[in-house]
Amino acid sequence: MKSVLFSRFFILLPWILIVIIMLDVDTRRPAPPLTPRPYFSPYVVGRGGARLPLRRGGPDSGPGRGWQKRNESRPQPRPEPPLPTIYAITPTYSRPVQKAELTRLANTFRQVAQLHWILVEDAAARSELVSRFLARAGLPSTHLHVPTPRRYKRPGLPRATEQRNAGLAWLRQRHQHQRAQPGVLFFADDDNTYSLELFQEMRTTRKVSVWPVGLVGGRRYERPLVENGKVVGWYTGWRADRPFAIDMAGFAVSLQVILSNPKAVFKRRGSQPGMQESDFLKQITTVEELEPKASNCTKVLVWHTRTEKVNLANEPKYRLDTVKIEV
Ligand code: UGA
Ligand code: MN
Repeated sequence: MKSVLFSRFFILLPWILIVIIMLDVDTRRPAPPLTPRPYFSPYVVGRGGARLPLRRGGPDSGPGRGWQKRNESRPQPRPEPPLPTIYAITPTYSRPVQKAELTRLANTFRQVAQLHWILVEDAAARSELVSRFLARAGLPSTHLHVPTPRRYKRPGLPRATEQRNAGLAWLRQRHQHQRAQPGVLFFADDDNTYSLELFQEMRTTRKVSVWPVGLVGGRRYERPLVENGKVVGWYTGWRADRPFAIDMAGFAVSLQVILSNPKAVFKRRGSQPGMQESDFLKQITTVEELEPKASNCTKVLVWHTRTEKVNLANEPKYRLDTVKIEV
């Protein structure tokens, strides 16, 4: 009886060993990505990169731990140079859709590595709504405020001049003593739509980069015209004679350029609507210097969407709701 058991054991033993070895080999293989590699994956390197080991059950669980340990002996890849920080300056003002707009924006920005959000309220003080919102947004951010003088709050006048300048002043102040860390600035209005690819494009800005903008200027898109890698003109439905016929959403500037042109700001005096971008860019660069992004300006990665004014015709004047709800 005993010998029968023994012989069965020895027959099974090699098979058991083969199964163990196969299981072990399988756990050594790095995990395949969850989804077919998303096209925007480079952005999530900073934060999302940490997710990969989690897929194997976190640092303390069995197979994950073993997999990580074994990897330690492999030659480590060289440390990557730090990602330039993207500073997004967003002017914003109180209105019924404000929190909805900011929520959409934060949901995009949260997916971008190394982004610092400079939110500038057009108000005499920081509002509770925006303060609470930012505190829970899960993003590195700076909350500023400056009111637009009443005389400039008229239709037909440029918007958000003071707010963008406050953002610029904060950036210059923050970097005044240290040598500039690599960084890129862009002006992100709170109602536009931004693809994640856009951030990958702008991150490599050396001085000033440009790209097409969708749904703007009375056209499906506007774009810089590019020949041999240089901007040679503008495809635009409105005042193509502007030196830089481009929307605020269509360019980014390196932090270095912002710091080495300390006087460059958005101007009220003499500035006509629609000329703000051009007036600003004139102070810091030339058309020849512009760096075309988005495949030589042939792809739309940002849209100048505008939110419909919300209909509140049925808001009660009396018999209000019994609770106060922030919207
Ligand atoms: C276009 C351009 O895309 C803007 O970059 C430019 O500032 C604006 O024209 C202009 O006329 O100055 P548009 O969609 O017409 O944009 O402007 P809004 O989206 O209404 O305003 C641009 C930004 O300024 C938004 O982030 C908005 O929240 C903010 N804003 C607007 C204020 O901070 N205060 C205001 O009173 C109005
Ligand atoms: Mn807008």
